[in-house]
Amino acid sequence: IEVDEFDLVVFGGTGDLAHRKLLPALYHRDLDRQLPAGARIVVTARRRYADADYRDWAAAALGEHVADLDEAALKRFLARIRYVPLDVDAGTGWSELAAVLEERPDVVRVFYLAVAPDFFGPICEGIGGEGLVNATTRVVIEKPIGKDGASARALNATIGAVFDEHQIFRIDHYLGKETVQNLMALRFANALFEPLWNAAHVDHVQITVAESLGVGGRAGYYDAAGALRDMVQNHLLQLLCLAAMEPPESMDADSVRDEKLKVLKALAPITGDSVDRLTVRGQYRAGASAGGAVPGYLEELGRDDSRTETFVALKVQIANWRWAGVPFYLRTGKRLATRVSEIVVQFRPIPHSIFDPEAGPIAANRLILRLQPDEGVTMQVMIKDPGPGGMRLRQVPLDMSFAEAFKVRNPDAYERLLMDVIRGNQTLFMRRDEVDAAWSWIDPILDAWAAGAGHPKPYTSGTWGPSAAIALIERDGRTWAEDGL
Ligand code: BG6
Repeated sequence: IEVDEFDLVVFGGTGDLAHRKLLPALYHRDLDRQLPAGARIVVTARRRYADADYRDWAAAALGEHVADLDEAALKRFLARIRYVPLDVDAGTGWSELAAVLEERPDVVRVFYLAVAPDFFGPICEGIGGEGLVNATTRVVIEKPIGKDGASARALNATIGAVFDEHQIFRIDHYLGKETVQNLMALRFANALFEPLWNAAHVDHVQITVAESLGVGGRAGYYDAAGALRDMVQNHLLQLLCLAAMEPPESMDADSVRDEKLKVLKALAPITGDSVDRLTVRGQYRAGASAGGAVPGYLEELGRDDSRTETFVALKVQIANWRWAGVPFYLRTGKRLATRVSEIVVQFRPIPHSIFDPEAGPIAANRLILRLQPDEGVTMQVMIKDPGPGGMRLRQVPLDMSFAEAFKVRNPDAYERLLMDVIRGNQTLFMRRDEVDAAWSWIDPILDAWAAGAGHPKPYTSGTWGPSAAIALIERDGRTWAEDGL
């Protein structure tokens, strides 16, 4: 699809996100010749760099994060970069930025706020005050969008004072992951699954986002957030929405987001007494990860009084016709046994077996969507064991690995999402009312945890979290699908 000429302004251009994600993503799009000839990347940050200094910094960042840099493409890419020193606190640099943008008043203009949320307000005011909003302006913001419903509403109001909702792109990078988009393709481009996609045929759904890393250098942010705010309020609930929503009337942004919103509104509240029954929170202790000894969360934090959860498991019900009585088990955590994200749809058992008991047990079908690593889709089915030895049944995977099937580099989520912003396509971005609805469901859990005297349950680094998380699902006669990996 043709991409219009654009100026992309990155606030926080010397930060971690620009370093790890934005520059590599833009470089790859440029390498694939997707950026129009005149496209510019206008970087701002506090440092008093000249263009050449920042280009050196960017080249180093790319060297670190991109395998096999192409010299010619790198040169072309770096030439697109302009650097404008801008100090938001001091209010300096705005007129210089305005002068650069006024060189091309009619191109698509994107402001990417790769900064801490405290700066969103002042930056939006700066953009509005300088009159930098043109007919095709878009603004991109990153999570965290608030720490609860009230703060998220305040933040959205601040941004909404300068930009219209159709100009605001709230990134949830999980929506840009290939397999997440494949969930929509699988559900709505095949006739096979949708008739079974309901309480009559689905026993339960599991959503796991397991990380093997700890909080590392982000302990400051993380300790004020915790896994429920950092991962569940956004990434896991978005995955749940895409798995559970009704077919939208089209892929148009509002059609998709309307359907996701309905799911969020139908989430059965977890409040008061049910919090202890339906949620488990954990905090990692020292242990072993990737073969080496690792410290516990409190040691990393340098404090011993933190009640912040680094793991959470939840049993969620969606109170609507399609999903009544079908639990969605969610879990996410740091320093778990391995890094894996997947959605598992487990179907109901067959109603009646015609086979002898010697044929072996008949496992229920499972559809597994692996987000990472090794993106792919697996359908677990029963077959007859090959050979003349009579009817022996066996469960096998019908496997589709994207790496094997397509032999192409799997693009990072940011590549897709940045191009969507430039094209003005909001389908994979969160609308304001979705953020509100997600917080409305999360807030009572946070409140109950804060009000209670309990602590997160300790778990050893390199395991699957506290045993209570296993009990949460086993109480219902089910198990987490680690064997499906
Ligand atoms: C971020 C969280 O949104 O997602 C991090 O703030 C987390 O804590 C990260 O590590 C996980 O993203 P990915 O793409 O590595 O699964």
